Amino acid sequence: MRRVEFIQPAAVGVLGGLVMSLAFGAGGSRADGEAAKPPALPAGVSQVLYELAVPEGPPEAARIALGDKLFNDKRLSADDSTSCATCHDPAKGFVDHKPQSEGIAKQRGQRNSPTVLNAMFNASQFWDGRAATLEDQAKLPILNPIEMGQKSPEDVVAKLKGLPDYPELFQKVFGREIDYDDMAAAIAAFERTQFSGDAPFDRFILGDSNAISVKAKRGWALFNGKGRCNECHAFSLANPLFSDQKFHNIGIAAHKTDFAERAKRALGVVKSGDLKQIDELALQSDLSELGRFLVTKRQNDVGAFKTPTLRNIAATGPYMHDGSLNTLWDVMDHYNKGGVANPYLDGGIQRLGLSEAEIDDTVAFLETLTSPGVAKFATEEMTKQRAKRTVRPERDEATAMGRKGNLGDLAPNPDLKNPAEIGFFTVGSEGGRK
Ligand code: HEC
Ligand code: HEC
Repeated sequence: MRRVEFIQPAAVGVLGGLVMSLAFGAGGSRADGEAAKPPALPAGVSQVLYELAVPEGPPEAARIALGDKLFNDKRLSADDSTSCATCHDPAKGFVDHKPQSEGIAKQRGQRNSPTVLNAMFNASQFWDGRAATLEDQAKLPILNPIEMGQKSPEDVVAKLKGLPDYPELFQKVFGREIDYDDMAAAIAAFERTQFSGDAPFDRFILGDSNAISVKAKRGWALFNGKGRCNECHAFSLANPLFSDQKFHNIGIAAHKTDFAERAKRALGVVKSGDLKQIDELALQSDLSELGRFLVTKRQNDVGAFKTPTLRNIAATGPYMHDGSLNTLWDVMDHYNKGGVANPYLDGGIQRLGLSEAEIDDTVAFLETLTSPGVAKFATEEMTKQRAKRTVRPERDEATAMGRKGNLGDLAPNPDLKNPAEIGFFTVGSEGGRK
């Protein structure tokens, strides 16, 4: 078997040094004292990505604790009803398990809540990437009328100043009075501790061939072969998130959208760069389904959404930007029939011709991406999903098998002799990609 190596230490050293000098060279001072020692990262968490995500090293414990408290505090919302954790429950994989999230006064938005686990590594935040950083992201839900409902940053700051615990905590961590940016910085510091790895798959890819079942090994091969999943959800040790961090139209929004009419309307309304306006359109209007187009106004972004991470996917259903797919079997049925036709469908989405057994194998592989912290919960969720396995609204076997509709070529059956070597690049070797 090919030896799997981690990123060469020398490369990390150079990159790490560069990042550090950029961070400190720009005058970045720390009000809260010395950088803590970097944590030991579990398998499946990339050292390179970690250093990019946390350039100054992990923040001190008091800042993380303040962020944790803010994340879980309903008093951040206008009517004390909703915290970040309401929609990103730390005990349940940091999601809410609703198709679309509900904010204050039970108002429902247009989108499904993504997990905060590993969000620290996202190249951009939100399904359409409208926020660049965790800090920018955190400032939006608090001010969104249907999420946490505060009117302005000043209102939030005034409310926090009036609570008994916060003034002293902010003073201690930031050395000054409460302000909105510092609040976002504390929340982001907490989120930057929420990396998650050490899944059975991680042990498998590092050489423990008993870490996952035979079924899951076949699924891993299908994932990189006949299933074509790695076109967008590729895995490597340097980028172990199973996401290309790009935006694709895979035909989810096409279920319910006349794209042309909406795109035309959006061009008249959207003020480019107005993050708050785009946030409200994305969560509260029927223009939501335009996806990335709301941010870029580029035609080939119509109906395109960010490729999400697949880590902990067994714990974070229902699926897709609108929560419209209930189970991983529904997800597989969607891909198997080549998505839903629309003028902007990504070229990578074609019928797959997967048999029922091959679908089960791929789902078994997806289940191996579960980290220990959510394992118990994921098992419960998958028991519920399995019970629904006979209800298959997305299934269209005739199209999937090429008996009707698009007759595109199928991807070749993968070489099953050594699934561990398929479809991922070993840094420092010739690479294992076919
Ligand atoms: C009412 C439910 C709700 C609340 C409250 C809420 N979120 Fe979210 N969160 C969502 C939804 C829905 C999305 C996806 C929205 C979109 O992409 O348009 C999201 C997206 C995110 C993302 C982006 C993840 C990714 O993979 O792109 C992060 C990070 C996040 N929220 C953190 C927070 C934080 C921090 C707070 C509190 C300050 C918060 N959320 C409050 C529902 C909520
Ligand atoms: C062309 C790129 C592309 C390919 C190929 C692809 N995906 Fe995706 N995947 C995406 C995008 C983009 C989304 C989000 C789409 C949306 O919400 O509209 C997604 C969403 C998902 C989700 C839901 C994640 C969540 O948190 O809701 C799962 C599960 C998934 N894909 C698994 C797979 C599997 C398994 C395959 C192969 C059978 C596959 N994908 C092939 C791009 C792709």
